[in-house]
Amino acid sequence: MKITPLGDTLGAQVDNIDLSQLSEAEFAALYQAFLRYKVLFFREQPLSTDNHVALAKRFGELEPPHPFFPHLPDNEQVVVIETSRGNPPSQSYWHTDMTWQAVPPKCSVLHAQYVPEHGGDTIWCDMAAVWADLTDKEKIELRELDTIHALHAVEGSRYDHQDADGQSVVSKRAQDYPPIRRAMVQTHPETGQEVLFINEQFTRTIADWPEADSQQRLATLFSQARQSKYHVRFRWQKHSVAIWDNRATQHYAVTDYGDTPRRLHRVTVQGERSQ
Ligand code: SIN
Repeated sequence: MKITPLGDTLGAQVDNIDLSQLSEAEFAALYQAFLRYKVLFFREQPLSTDNHVALAKRFGELEPPHPFFPHLPDNEQVVVIETSRGNPPSQSYWHTDMTWQAVPPKCSVLHAQYVPEHGGDTIWCDMAAVWADLTDKEKIELRELDTIHALHAVEGSRYDHQDADGQSVVSKRAQDYPPIRRAMVQTHPETGQEVLFINEQFTRTIADWPEADSQQRLATLFSQARQSKYHVRFRWQKHSVAIWDNRATQHYAVTDYGDTPRRLHRVTVQGERSQ
Protein backbone atom coordinates (compact mmCIF):
# COMPACT_ATOMS: atom_id res chain seq x y z
CA MET A 1 0.00 0.00 0.00
CA LYS A 2 1.39 3.38 -1.03
CA ILE A 3 -0.01 6.53 0.63
CA THR A 4 0.67 9.87 -1.06
CA PRO A 5 -0.45 13.01 0.80
CA LEU A 6 -2.23 15.50 -1.48
CA GLY A 7 -3.46 18.64 0.30
CA ASP A 8 -1.63 20.85 2.81
CA THR A 9 -3.52 19.37 5.74
CA LEU A 10 -5.89 16.70 4.39
CA GLY A 11 -6.30 14.19 1.60
CA ALA A 12 -4.13 11.31 0.44
CA GLN A 13 -4.17 8.97 -2.53
CA VAL A 14 -3.79 5.30 -1.71
CA ASP A 15 -2.29 3.04 -4.39
CA ASN A 16 -1.33 -0.61 -4.62
CA ILE A 17 -4.47 -1.74 -2.87
CA ASP A 18 -7.59 -3.71 -3.83
CA LEU A 19 -10.55 -2.43 -1.84
CA SER A 20 -12.58 -5.55 -2.64
CA GLN A 21 -10.25 -7.78 -0.63
CA LEU A 22 -8.56 -5.97 2.22
CA SER A 23 -6.74 -8.03 4.80
CA GLU A 24 -7.09 -7.12 8.48
CA ALA A 25 -3.60 -5.59 8.42
CA GLU A 26 -4.36 -3.54 5.30
CA PHE A 27 -7.61 -2.28 6.75
CA ALA A 28 -5.88 -1.32 10.01
CA ALA A 29 -3.31 0.73 8.05
CA LEU A 30 -6.04 2.24 5.90
CA TYR A 31 -8.04 3.20 8.98
CA GLN A 32 -5.07 5.03 10.49
CA ALA A 33 -4.63 6.89 7.18
CA PHE A 34 -8.35 7.75 7.18
CA LEU A 35 -8.01 9.35 10.63
CA ARG A 36 -4.77 11.10 9.69
CA TYR A 37 -5.75 12.44 6.22
CA LYS A 38 -9.54 12.75 6.68
CA VAL A 39 -10.24 11.88 3.04
CA LEU A 40 -8.65 9.04 1.07
CA PHE A 41 -8.74 8.60 -2.70
CA PHE A 42 -8.33 5.43 -4.73
CA ARG A 43 -8.13 4.76 -8.48
CA GLU A 44 -9.29 1.84 -10.58
CA GLN A 45 -11.48 0.05 -8.02
CA PRO A 46 -14.19 -1.76 -10.05
CA LEU A 47 -16.24 -2.64 -6.95
CA SER A 48 -19.50 -4.56 -7.18
CA THR A 49 -22.36 -3.25 -5.02
CA ASP A 50 -21.63 -6.02 -2.52
CA ASN A 51 -17.94 -5.07 -2.42
CA HIS A 52 -18.87 -1.42 -1.90
CA VAL A 53 -21.27 -2.18 0.96
CA ALA A 54 -18.83 -4.65 2.56
CA LEU A 55 -16.07 -2.03 2.44
CA ALA A 56 -18.26 0.59 4.14
CA LYS A 57 -19.26 -1.94 6.81
CA ARG A 58 -15.61 -2.28 7.81
CA PHE A 59 -15.92 1.30 9.14
CA GLY A 60 -19.07 0.67 11.17
CA GLU A 61 -22.80 0.11 11.01
CA LEU A 62 -24.49 1.62 7.96
CA GLU A 63 -26.97 4.48 8.01
CA PRO A 64 -30.60 3.53 7.41
CA PRO A 65 -31.86 4.36 3.90
CA HIS A 66 -31.62 8.09 3.13
CA PRO A 67 -35.07 9.72 3.43
CA PHE A 68 -34.78 11.77 0.21
CA PHE A 69 -31.98 10.58 -2.04
CA PRO A 70 -32.64 7.89 -4.65
CA HIS A 71 -31.05 4.50 -4.08
CA LEU A 72 -30.29 1.34 -6.00
CA PRO A 73 -33.44 -0.72 -6.64
CA ASP A 74 -31.90 -3.77 -4.97
CA ASN A 75 -30.11 -2.03 -2.10
CA GLU A 76 -31.64 0.90 -0.22
CA GLN A 77 -28.38 1.74 1.55
CA VAL A 78 -26.62 2.63 -1.70
CA VAL A 79 -27.53 6.20 -2.58
CA VAL A 80 -27.36 7.14 -6.25
CA ILE A 81 -25.96 10.61 -7.01
CA GLU A 82 -26.74 11.08 -10.66
CA THR A 83 -27.04 13.80 -13.27
CA SER A 84 -27.97 13.10 -16.85
CA ARG A 85 -28.88 14.79 -20.14
CA GLY A 86 -31.66 17.26 -19.39
CA ASN A 87 -31.20 16.67 -15.65
CA PRO A 88 -28.20 18.80 -14.60
CA PRO A 89 -27.05 19.22 -10.99
CA SER A 90 -28.96 21.70 -8.85
CA GLN A 91 -27.20 24.32 -6.77
CA SER A 92 -24.23 22.96 -4.87
CA TYR A 93 -23.36 23.94 -1.28
CA TRP A 94 -20.47 23.26 1.02
CA HIS A 95 -21.81 20.67 3.42
CA THR A 96 -21.11 17.96 5.91
CA ASP A 97 -23.44 15.05 5.24
CA MET A 98 -26.73 14.93 7.10
CA THR A 99 -25.93 17.22 10.03
CA TRP A 100 -29.69 17.74 10.20
CA GLN A 101 -29.78 14.33 11.90
CA ALA A 102 -29.37 14.04 15.66
CA VAL A 103 -26.28 11.91 15.02
CA PRO A 104 -24.54 12.81 11.75
CA PRO A 105 -22.70 10.04 9.88
CA LYS A 106 -19.17 8.96 10.66
CA CYS A 107 -17.99 8.58 7.09
CA SER A 108 -19.04 7.93 3.51
CA VAL A 109 -17.65 5.75 0.74
CA LEU A 110 -18.29 7.23 -2.70
CA HIS A 111 -17.68 5.14 -5.83
CA ALA A 112 -17.69 6.66 -9.32
CA GLN A 113 -19.70 4.74 -11.92
CA TYR A 114 -19.15 7.21 -14.76
CA VAL A 115 -18.06 10.82 -14.78
CA PRO A 116 -17.57 13.68 -17.26
CA GLU A 117 -14.24 13.85 -19.05
CA HIS A 118 -13.86 17.42 -17.78
CA GLY A 119 -15.28 18.91 -14.59
CA GLY A 120 -17.41 17.46 -11.80
CA ASP A 121 -14.59 17.45 -9.23
CA THR A 122 -15.30 17.32 -5.51
CA ILE A 123 -13.47 19.49 -2.95
CA TRP A 124 -13.04 18.62 0.73
CA CYS A 125 -12.25 21.09 3.52
CA ASP A 126 -10.40 20.27 6.74
CA MET A 127 -12.57 21.79 9.49
CA ALA A 128 -10.05 20.86 12.21
CA ALA A 129 -7.42 22.93 10.40
CA VAL A 130 -9.87 25.83 10.02
CA TRP A 131 -10.48 25.63 13.76
CA ALA A 132 -6.78 25.40 14.62
CA ASP A 133 -6.07 28.67 12.78
CA LEU A 134 -8.62 30.73 14.72
CA THR A 135 -7.27 33.02 17.43
CA ASP A 136 -7.35 31.96 21.07
CA LYS A 137 -9.92 34.70 21.70
CA GLU A 138 -12.20 33.35 18.97
CA LYS A 139 -11.80 29.80 20.26
CA ILE A 140 -12.82 30.80 23.77
CA GLU A 141 -15.90 32.56 22.36
CA LEU A 142 -16.92 29.81 19.92
CA ARG A 143 -16.52 26.95 22.42
CA GLU A 144 -19.44 28.45 24.32
CA LEU A 145 -21.81 28.51 21.33
CA ASP A 146 -24.44 26.14 20.03
CA THR A 147 -25.73 26.06 16.47
CA ILE A 148 -28.98 24.99 14.87
CA HIS A 149 -28.78 22.55 11.95
CA ALA A 150 -31.80 21.99 9.72
CA LEU A 151 -32.89 20.40 6.48
CA HIS A 152 -34.18 23.52 4.70
CA ALA A 153 -31.72 23.42 1.78
CA VAL A 154 -33.07 20.16 0.41
CA GLU A 155 -36.51 21.72 -0.02
CA GLY A 156 -37.12 22.69 -3.63
CA SER A 157 -33.93 20.92 -4.74
CA ARG A 158 -33.74 18.18 -7.37
CA TYR A 159 -34.45 15.69 -4.58
CA ASP A 160 -37.80 17.31 -3.85
CA HIS A 161 -41.09 17.09 -5.72
CA GLN A 162 -44.69 18.03 -5.10
CA ASP A 163 -47.12 15.41 -3.91
CA ALA A 164 -50.73 15.08 -5.08
CA ASP A 165 -51.72 17.93 -2.72
CA GLY A 166 -49.11 20.21 -4.31
CA GLN A 167 -46.92 20.10 -1.19
CA SER A 168 -43.17 19.63 -1.05
CA VAL A 169 -42.38 16.02 -0.17
CA VAL A 170 -39.19 17.15 1.58
CA SER A 171 -40.97 19.72 3.74
CA LYS A 172 -43.48 17.05 4.77
CA ARG A 173 -40.75 14.52 5.63
CA ALA A 174 -38.76 17.29 7.31
CA GLN A 175 -41.30 17.10 10.11
CA ASP A 176 -39.57 13.83 11.08
CA TYR A 177 -36.25 15.73 11.33
CA PRO A 178 -36.77 18.77 13.55
CA PRO A 179 -33.92 21.30 13.77
CA ILE A 180 -31.01 20.01 15.85
CA ARG A 181 -29.08 22.03 18.42
CA ARG A 182 -25.42 21.09 18.91
CA ALA A 183 -22.16 22.65 20.05
CA MET A 184 -20.36 24.61 17.34
CA VAL A 185 -17.09 22.99 18.32
CA GLN A 186 -16.95 19.22 18.49
CA THR A 187 -14.16 17.02 19.75
CA HIS A 188 -13.42 14.27 17.28
CA PRO A 189 -14.24 11.01 19.11
CA GLU A 190 -11.16 9.20 17.82
CA THR A 191 -8.42 11.77 17.19
CA GLY A 192 -9.36 14.12 20.03
CA GLN A 193 -8.95 17.07 17.62
CA GLU A 194 -11.32 19.97 17.99
CA VAL A 195 -13.39 20.62 14.87
CA LEU A 196 -15.37 23.69 13.82
CA PHE A 197 -18.50 21.64 13.15
CA ILE A 198 -20.53 23.97 10.95
CA ASN A 199 -21.39 23.78 7.27
CA GLU A 200 -22.94 26.17 4.78
CA GLN A 201 -25.84 23.96 3.75
CA PHE A 202 -27.28 22.79 7.04
CA THR A 203 -26.03 25.11 9.81
CA ARG A 204 -28.79 27.69 9.97
CA THR A 205 -28.08 29.89 12.97
CA ILE A 206 -26.11 30.36 16.13
CA ALA A 207 -28.54 29.40 18.87
CA ASP A 208 -29.95 32.24 20.97
CA TRP A 209 -28.30 34.93 18.84
CA PRO A 210 -30.20 37.65 16.96
CA GLU A 211 -30.64 36.51 13.35
CA ALA A 212 -28.52 39.25 11.75
CA ASP A 213 -25.59 38.76 14.18
CA SER A 214 -25.79 35.01 13.72
CA GLN A 215 -25.73 35.26 9.91
CA GLN A 216 -22.82 37.67 10.00
CA ARG A 217 -20.73 35.51 12.34
CA LEU A 218 -21.46 32.33 10.40
CA ALA A 219 -20.64 34.05 7.10
CA THR A 220 -17.24 35.08 8.48
CA LEU A 221 -16.51 31.52 9.60
CA PHE A 222 -17.74 30.04 6.31
CA SER A 223 -15.50 32.39 4.33
CA GLN A 224 -12.57 31.32 6.50
CA ALA A 225 -13.29 27.73 5.47
CA ARG A 226 -13.46 28.68 1.79
CA GLN A 227 -9.71 29.35 1.68
CA SER A 228 -7.99 26.85 -0.59
CA LYS A 229 -5.20 26.18 1.91
CA TYR A 230 -7.72 24.03 3.83
CA HIS A 231 -8.86 22.11 0.74
CA VAL A 232 -8.07 19.13 -1.40
CA ARG A 233 -9.68 18.78 -4.82
CA PHE A 234 -10.30 15.41 -6.44
CA ARG A 235 -10.65 14.72 -10.17
CA TRP A 236 -12.92 11.72 -10.56
CA GLN A 237 -12.38 8.89 -13.01
CA LYS A 238 -14.57 5.85 -13.58
CA HIS A 239 -14.14 3.52 -10.57
CA SER A 240 -12.40 6.09 -8.37
CA VAL A 241 -13.33 5.88 -4.69
CA ALA A 242 -13.29 8.56 -1.98
CA ILE A 243 -13.71 7.77 1.72
CA TRP A 244 -14.06 10.78 4.01
CA ASP A 245 -14.36 11.48 7.69
CA ASN A 246 -17.64 13.34 7.98
CA ARG A 247 -16.80 14.33 11.57
CA ALA A 248 -13.91 16.53 10.48
CA THR A 249 -14.68 17.78 6.96
CA GLN A 250 -17.07 19.60 4.69
CA HIS A 251 -17.23 18.93 0.95
CA TYR A 252 -18.44 20.64 -2.19
CA ALA A 253 -19.42 19.15 -5.55
CA VAL A 254 -18.25 21.41 -8.39
CA THR A 255 -21.13 21.76 -10.87
CA ASP A 256 -19.19 22.89 -13.93
CA TYR A 257 -20.16 20.12 -16.37
CA GLY A 258 -23.62 21.11 -17.58
CA ASP A 259 -25.74 18.02 -18.01
CA THR A 260 -22.93 15.66 -18.97
CA PRO A 261 -23.86 12.30 -17.41
CA ARG A 262 -22.23 11.68 -14.02
CA ARG A 263 -23.11 8.93 -11.56
CA LEU A 264 -21.67 8.01 -8.20
CA HIS A 265 -22.85 5.53 -5.57
CA ARG A 266 -22.56 6.45 -1.90
CA VAL A 267 -22.71 4.25 1.17
CA THR A 268 -22.74 6.05 4.52
CA VAL A 269 -21.69 4.82 7.94
CA GLN A 270 -23.44 5.84 11.17
CA GLY A 271 -21.79 8.22 13.61
CA GLU A 272 -21.34 7.88 17.32
CA ARG A 273 -23.99 9.03 19.77
CA SER A 274 -21.90 11.79 21.37
CA GLN A 275 -21.94 14.15 18.35
C1 SIN B 1 -21.85 14.06 -1.91
O1 SIN B 1 -22.09 15.19 -1.49
O2 SIN B 1 -21.94 13.07 -1.17
C2 SIN B 1 -21.46 13.84 -3.34
C3 SIN B 1 -20.42 14.76 -3.82
C4 SIN B 1 -20.36 14.81 -5.33
O3 SIN B 1 -21.35 14.54 -6.02
O4 SIN B 1 -19.30 15.16 -5.83
